[in-house]
Formats: sequence, C-alpha cells, structure tokens
Amino acid sequence: MYFHHEIYFQTQAMKDKIDELNNRFATASPQEMIGWFISEYHGTVAFSSSFGAEDQVLTAIIADISRDVRFFTLDTGRLFQETYDVMNITEHKYGIRFALFFPDAARVEDMVKNYGINLFYERLEYRRLCCAVRKTEPLKRALIGVHVWITGQRKDQSVTRLGTGKIEWDTVNQVIKLNPLADWSNEDVWAYLKAEKIPYNELHDKGYPSIGCQPCTRAILPGEDLRAGRWWWELPEFKECGLHKTH
Ligand code: ADX
Ligand code: SF4
Repeated sequence: MYFHHEIYFQTQAMKDKIDELNNRFATASPQEMIGWFISEYHGTVAFSSSFGAEDQVLTAIIADISRDVRFFTLDTGRLFQETYDVMNITEHKYGIRFALFFPDAARVEDMVKNYGINLFYERLEYRRLCCAVRKTEPLKRALIGVHVWITGQRKDQSVTRLGTGKIEWDTVNQVIKLNPLADWSNEDVWAYLKAEKIPYNELHDKGYPSIGCQPCTRAILPGEDLRAGRWWWELPEFKECGLHKTH
C-alpha cells in the first residue's frame, strides 16, 4: 500500500514539473526548448528518428546545437531501402552517426516460426506483436540511461495524436518526452525542410507522406489523410505501434 502511494506521489510530482515546463516553453522555438534540455540533462538526451520529414527537421536542429545527443533509430529489419539511403546521406551531411537498435533475434525467429513472416496482415494482435518485438522492445534498450527522449510527433498527424504535448512525462519508459514540433503543421515542416535544404526521404515525392516499415506503408491517393497509407487495413484509432503509449 505504502509502495503504491510512493509511486503516486512521484508520478504526481513529475506531472507538476511537466506542467511548469510546458508553461515555461509555451511560446519557445524548438531550438530554445531543445537547447535548454540538452544543457540541463547533459549526456542523457536521446533523439529517435524514423527519417520522416519531421525527424529530418529535428536532426538538422539538434546537430546544430550539440553532438552530445544519442541519435538513434529502431531498425525493424523491414524498412525501405530509401530510408537507409536518407540515413546515409544525413549522416554524411551532418557528420553524425545513428545508433541502430535491432529486434532481439530469438524473439523474431520465434514469432515468425509461430505466426509466419507476414503475420501483421492477419490479425490486429499479430500486428501488435510484431510492433512489440521489432519496435517497442528495442526502444526500451535504446532508452537505457536516458532522461529526455525527443520525437517528431505532431498533433495533427492523426486522431490518436490530438492530445500530444510539447513536453510529456512518459510513465511507460520513465523519461521526459519532448515533441518539439507538436504544434507544427505539415506545411510548417515542409517550408522548413525546403528553406534549410535538408535532405529528405525520396518516397515523400512519390505519394508517401508518412513512412514506416515497408510492408505496412503504402502511397496515399490525392485527398486521403496523411497517415492513410500506414497500416491501411486497420481502423484509424488502432494505427499506433505502441512507441507512443505514455501511460
Ligand atoms: S509510428 O509510431 O506511427 O511509427 P511515426 O512514423 O508517425 O510513428 O513517427 C513518429 C515519431 O516516432 C518519429 O518522429 C520518431 O521520433 C519515432 N519513430 C517512429 N518510428 C521510428 C523508428 N523506426 N525508429 C526511431 N524512431 C521512430
Ligand atoms: Fe512489424 Fe509492420 Fe509493426 Fe513494422 S510496422 S514492426 S513490419 S507490424
């Protein structure tokens, strides 16, 4: 009982701190916000990139502020070749190296043995299992020793992200989560990419506004929602892989 109270008070204290930080950075630019966290949490800040348009903006901004950040990606083993190409170009342009986190080989072997290589198309629970094995478990390892995790989520990406805050407490991973572009529109992202001549995934020019794993991403048709090509066979409210579950 006492133990549960302890956790409650710790979580409440963290939530109060997050409210205070959100107030402080309400009108701050991504640069100001990221810069403050990097100096305050020196050496324990990590940035996850899937090399989407938002992540490319953040890579350019972060690389300009500090190299003392863990740039990482979750290599699910099912990414597009175009994603590896932009990773390579970005590393050369900014003089950085992305740490790659792979899924646990034994877990992948087991999963595929039991449910087949393309299990994700068969049932929602298999798709979630694949995301857990290939993304959320490696994420846990990527966040070891990390206090602040930066991501490229935006509010208007989907119905599941409307509540995304610029600064959140992630109770699942026990880290402060920064979404510096939470309030940016898709147009803001593209204006910044073009103005700063930032490299981007060439699939964006081929009808793919949102890019994840190759078997779970398709191009969208004119007028379709930006994330319509992600897990297109599922209902919009299920289109999350578990990376961004904060409680
Ligand atoms: S997803 O949850 O649907 O796959 P999305 O592609 O919109 O996410 O990306 C949102 C943010 O999640 C990215 O800006 C990035 O920070 C993180 N992210 C998503 N996929 C990966 C990945 N494979 N590796 C690292 N970070 C990722
Ligand atoms: Fe597996 Fe698809 Fe999830 Fe990638 S997006 S981890 S291939 S289910």
